[in-house]
Amino acid sequence: MSWQNKLRQVEPYVAGEQPKIVNMIKLNTNENPYGPTEKIKEVLQNLNEDKLKLYPNSDGEDLRHALAKYHGLNDKQVFLGNGSDEVLALSFLTFFNGKEPILFPDISYSFYPVYCDLYQMAFEQVPLREDFTIDIKDYQKPNSGIIFPNPNAPTGLLLGLTAIEEVVKNNPNSIVIIDEAYIDFGGETCVPLIKKYDNLVVIQTFSKSRSFAGARLGVALGSEEAISHLYDVKNSFNSYPIDYITQQVALASVLDSQDMKKKCQMIISTRERTKTKLKELGFIVPDSYANFVFVKHPQIDGEELFLALRKVGIIVRHWNKPRIDQYLRITIGTDEQMDRLFAFLENYIHEKSNG
Ligand SMILES: Cc1ncc(COP(=O)(O)O)c(C=O)c1O
Repeated sequence: MSWQNKLRQVEPYVAGEQPKIVNMIKLNTNENPYGPTEKIKEVLQNLNEDKLKLYPNSDGEDLRHALAKYHGLNDKQVFLGNGSDEVLALSFLTFFNGKEPILFPDISYSFYPVYCDLYQMAFEQVPLREDFTIDIKDYQKPNSGIIFPNPNAPTGLLLGLTAIEEVVKNNPNSIVIIDEAYIDFGGETCVPLIKKYDNLVVIQTFSKSRSFAGARLGVALGSEEAISHLYDVKNSFNSYPIDYITQQVALASVLDSQDMKKKCQMIISTRERTKTKLKELGFIVPDSYANFVFVKHPQIDGEELFLALRKVGIIVRHWNKPRIDQYLRITIGTDEQMDRLFAFLENYIHEKSNG
């Protein structure tokens, strides 16, 4: 016997790298290329350092209230956590405790199976169709919970509200979590369905559309009952997951949501230009509604292209996994960054086709 026999050994999630390459174009973790708004800069300049000696408001009351108003819910339907990864981790722990497997797509956010392993929960990775779309009929079997991102990650494909409602309606005895990390980039949120279904929980993040990856804020929205259970679990784990500074800047972001929408619109228009350009270069480009595209080139190996891009300081994401090892996920950066990517690809493909 040794202490090693009593370990919980897990294979952790591997986040996209944060390399320290000078002048790199970082298109690998779906961050927002546009910085925080003027209002957030003002808040940062006017922070009260004296507040740092005290614990922050444990439930982020002002922020919860502003978010409730933004989403047309009441304050008790809003849960805040330290990034949506934490909100997801607490949600699995709170909602997914049956004996049947938890269902999620085989190509999806790769943190989900990690949470299942950590908590020793059974799960089933439901294959997407050949074209990476979700067949909602696959989610009509006994389960302890259902989760998928919408738009899906890393494919970027969007499922319509009617299909989502079908899944929620057909599973009244399970919580269905829709991970809307990328919903602000052109999708339609299913938050309005929360009024109709107490088994729907929607998780959103400030990391993408609100340019907030460095501050860490995630949100769960659901029925008062579901959210109160999530708070019970969170309060059995960490009373103060969101620091004073994050609460202040996130509040400013919610109150200045027009700025977020304007920046999302800029990213959407760059994304559409990117899709057109990559198709012209021969790439297969599923129709992304997120701030990234998921693409492959029929004549170029995925890993080879990933490494070639890296060599010139353009960092994208590649997974050595079945079904997707030929694909690259490319975050939408500024127009200038994307132009540099296109120039490289044009050249690379030209040289390759000329032997
Ligand atoms: C689908 C999905 N959900 C959740 C997250 C986690 O985001 P965060 O923890 O930064 O809020 C990500 C991050 O890339 C994601 O792609």
